[in-house]
Amino acid sequence: MARVVGAEHIEEVRAKGLRHFELLPGDIVTSLAEEAASRLSIKLIEGPIERPTPHRTDGATMARRAMYRRAARWVAPSAAPRTEARRLKKLALIGAGGVGGNIAHLAANQDIADEIALIDIAPGLASSTALDLLHASGVTRSSARINGGEDLNAVAGADVVVVTAGRARTPGMTRADLITVNRKVICAAAEAIKSQAPNAVVIVVTNPLDEMTVEMLQATGFPREQVLGMAGTLDSSRFRYSLAKAVGVEARDVEAITLGSHGDEMAPITSLARIKGRALEAFLTTDQIEACRKDAVTGGGQVVALKKTGSATIAPAHSSLELIDHIRGARTGSVPVSVMLEGEYGIAGVVLGVPCHLGQRGLVSVENLRLTEAESTALKAAAEAIRTRLAS
Ligand code: 2OP
Repeated sequence: MARVVGAEHIEEVRAKGLRHFELLPGDIVTSLAEEAASRLSIKLIEGPIERPTPHRTDGATMARRAMYRRAARWVAPSAAPRTEARRLKKLALIGAGGVGGNIAHLAANQDIADEIALIDIAPGLASSTALDLLHASGVTRSSARINGGEDLNAVAGADVVVVTAGRARTPGMTRADLITVNRKVICAAAEAIKSQAPNAVVIVVTNPLDEMTVEMLQATGFPREQVLGMAGTLDSSRFRYSLAKAVGVEARDVEAITLGSHGDEMAPITSLARIKGRALEAFLTTDQIEACRKDAVTGGGQVVALKKTGSATIAPAHSSLELIDHIRGARTGSVPVSVMLEGEYGIAGVVLGVPCHLGQRGLVSVENLRLTEAESTALKAAAEAIRTRLAS
């Protein structure tokens, strides 16, 4: 049936705040309607106007949309690879056990070095791993020259040396229990690095991490820029995982770092941590945050307890690769590294995990983050604990 459009229809759309009236085929428009449209500046448009097809959705999607409308929009940052990343001439690994072997595996798989040298005192370990990796190159297409042996002098000419050699913890041991035995390993490695690869950036992974980094600095006599300890990237990764698990999001949705020592005085920085861009308190109670902190601090010990005959290998290897990537310019921004402090964070003369910018020659600068009073105090307490352990 034809519709008669009168002045009241025009007044109705005006009352709704609309600026047009849609005429449908067959509509009869009265002159009063035309006069009202002109008076109220309402455009008469020949319809039907084409409209987008409505979204079909289900209840769960509608609920999620409604929740997200109330939350800050979040997109997990993607680490865009940098095209100017340098390929290492030579990566030397002192220690070809679980961590060293996995670093070699990742480095070969990602083809980041012309040469990878594996060194281990255990007869046949480094050479067998090297051969195994070469056998995989038919699949991975890695072009790295890979060699393995027992002679420390094979570090010759390396631009990065990663030291993982030394005893690992067994259940019930703290990392600090390894000081005496691993100090000798570090000194032997330092001798070779100093004479054969004097320009290398040295990454210490051997435990106890902070103390062994101090030993490496002293034994090589290298400037602090050249000697880095890998712990913060590992501890931060564990902290991010704990938070993600507690909230039920993915680890990539979490930004969080851990500073301080690689031991009981580890300092997960909760004040700067973000989940989907929001502070932890938006998702977790104080007790839950504390549980995540504890989970991160005891993460390494949890692996030791399960494994019984050694410590973690995969996460430490990935975390070492992260430092190497920062050194060769494949990653930008700051990253937690154990370095000798010279007054940063009010601490000097001891190695401690702090956020750093890295480059070809190692440490470029220590980033000064705004920490809470409690977090700054935790860093100072960690520094004192390391100092005390080294002195005894
Ligand atoms: C860890 O935390 C090996 O210390 C290393 O797993």
